[in-house]
Amino acid sequence: MTEKDFSQGAAWMKGEIMPIGEAAIPVTDWGLTHSDITYDVVHVWDGRFFRMADYLERFERSMEKVRLSVEQDREDMRRILHQMVGQSGLQRAYVSLVASRGQPSVPGSRDPRLCENYFYAWCVPFVWVFLEEVLPRGAHLKIADSASRISPNSVDPTAKNYHWGDFTQGLFEAKEAGFDNTLLLDSDGHVTEGPGFNVLMIKDGKVSTPRQGVLEGITRKVAMEICAHHGLEVAVDDIPVEQFLEADEVFATTTGGGPVAISRINDRVFSNDAPGEITRQINETYWQWHNDPAMSEVVDVNY
Ligand SMILES: Cc1ncc(COP(=O)(O)O)c(C=O)c1O
Repeated sequence: MTEKDFSQGAAWMKGEIMPIGEAAIPVTDWGLTHSDITYDVVHVWDGRFFRMADYLERFERSMEKVRLSVEQDREDMRRILHQMVGQSGLQRAYVSLVASRGQPSVPGSRDPRLCENYFYAWCVPFVWVFLEEVLPRGAHLKIADSASRISPNSVDPTAKNYHWGDFTQGLFEAKEAGFDNTLLLDSDGHVTEGPGFNVLMIKDGKVSTPRQGVLEGITRKVAMEICAHHGLEVAVDDIPVEQFLEADEVFATTTGGGPVAISRINDRVFSNDAPGEITRQINETYWQWHNDPAMSEVVDVNY
């Protein structure tokens, strides 16, 4: 028997662990045809899952919000992730949990109650939302003109989702103008978030981050804990873009790379065009906390 090649990643589907390239969902699945799906992403760093309980809890809340229900409970999912990542051999990984609507038991029906929801998971080598070469200079963001963030009255951003139409428009615009990434405002001109990251601002030693129209990021939560640990005050509030651009420092938070300094937004330059001192400290503590057994667990293929 030939060894399975997990170098590109692995997936768990219907009780089986397979190389990522073999994992597929049906073309008629509502997860695909209606973006009727929710997901979460936890990471593995140097062979340890970070803050797994937080991610599993958010995933469960997302499922409840969009009325998805799967066979597996939290402990089943934890076991699946340990076994899948363990078998893949990946030491630094981006690990996704997904719940899809599936498809109705009556072909052609439009009744979501008739769908058989299901769970799958996959992992690939660690994904940096901001390229590693960007980190020393800080990220450059362009505020999107072509799209505002989908209204939270239409699609609940706190249930992690695949509705990326607004982000994709913003990304085209940002990349074409030479920026690293995009930042979206809501229709009232408040700062929201970007594709795969939250944002925080620091002004006169006070930290604040948008209240509405955003995913409640786990990395943001950890960053806020770090701020409290360092005695910094944190507020979650509506932030008009003009106020955001007056910050002393700004940074993004993402499971795909942690707290990342932002040194430019449009033509505004922050903290001398480099990562600011407070952001640098938050980033340092974030990575230190990865070795704390209270916040991380060793990947165990026999879990
Ligand atoms: C839209 C959006 N906002 C924010 C985040 C950051 O959340 P977390 O820190 O949990 O990765 C993500 C993560 O993928 C996201 O997709």
